[in-house]
Amino acid sequence: MVLAVEWREASGSIRLIDQTVLPDREEYLDITTVDALVDAIERLAVRGAPALGAVGGLGVVLAMLQGSREGWSAERLDTEIDRVRLARPTAVNLAWGVDQVRPAVTSGVAAVLDQARRLIEEDTAANRRLARLGADWILERTGKDVVRVVTHCNTGALATTAWGTAYGIVHELHDRGRLGLVYADETRPLLQGARLTSWELTQDGIDHVVEVDGAASSTILRGLVDVAIIGADRITANGDTANKVGSVALALACARAGIPFVVAAPSSTVDLATATGEEIVIEERSSDEVLTLAGRRVAPASARAFNPAFDVTPHDLISAIVTELGVVEPAKNPHPRLLAPIAG
Ligand code: MRU
Repeated sequence: MVLAVEWREASGSIRLIDQTVLPDREEYLDITTVDALVDAIERLAVRGAPALGAVGGLGVVLAMLQGSREGWSAERLDTEIDRVRLARPTAVNLAWGVDQVRPAVTSGVAAVLDQARRLIEEDTAANRRLARLGADWILERTGKDVVRVVTHCNTGALATTAWGTAYGIVHELHDRGRLGLVYADETRPLLQGARLTSWELTQDGIDHVVEVDGAASSTILRGLVDVAIIGADRITANGDTANKVGSVALALACARAGIPFVVAAPSSTVDLATATGEEIVIEERSSDEVLTLAGRRVAPASARAFNPAFDVTPHDLISAIVTELGVVEPAKNPHPRLLAPIAG
């Protein structure tokens, strides 16, 4: 299985698989500076909430090493760590990863690296466990021998430290011989579904089709799938969930069709400090991503774009939130601090 994020001890660098060029090329970036890391995060060379948590933790190590090479003051180090922390706003895991290891800065690089490695190990274990819990819940809830799935964006090993969240559940169903056809939304504008999820499904030998995002609601209403499973970038205390733009359309269609809409994430994605989805900052990205295709302008020269990278699904449309700590059913049990018992 490919690793999205790896620490290279010998060179003191973060090794990333460059997700902007997949599936055409399998290229790696060896990152040794904060500038290069922030650039990789902003360009989505590394992406997906749990993978961002890992680079948040390792980013602090990187900043400390660069700081000692270049003789930074404590203030400069703080500023550079904050640049990593704030490189993308919506996925809580990035800031969480930084915040988890930051208290160890005064104890030295080795202590911070230990903490960052612990986060990575815990994320991998969380993925494995939530995949099993999610598969159990879906099989029981649907009562199906074989479950057909629609998913959105990319939530596999590339988006995490290994295995995957929503993708992990898909993989688990496949391993149990209980998975039917998977519909992978292409995920405009950056095509994480077509480029990355389809690449992972192909490598894992999982039967799937790629569909345009606009097809997903109809796929659900026509009864072609039994469940929608997505990941999350931030889950607020009441269960509202930010994920890749287009997710809420799936949730609305699932509610109409009466099939479950499942959110899968490690507990590090749960943000109890944010009460509801209305408070989530939604990243807005460059107009070029919408107005051009494969580097060629497709809209009139004067056209402007609206390019939110995420949307928020209200908790009452979510049948289950699956973390490694358990499953809650927001649509059934609305409660302002619904997630406290499973937030770790
Ligand atoms: O903009 P991206 O590619 O970082 O968005 C990723 C998603 O929306 C994922 O669904 C989410 O981070 C969960 S990844 C396990």
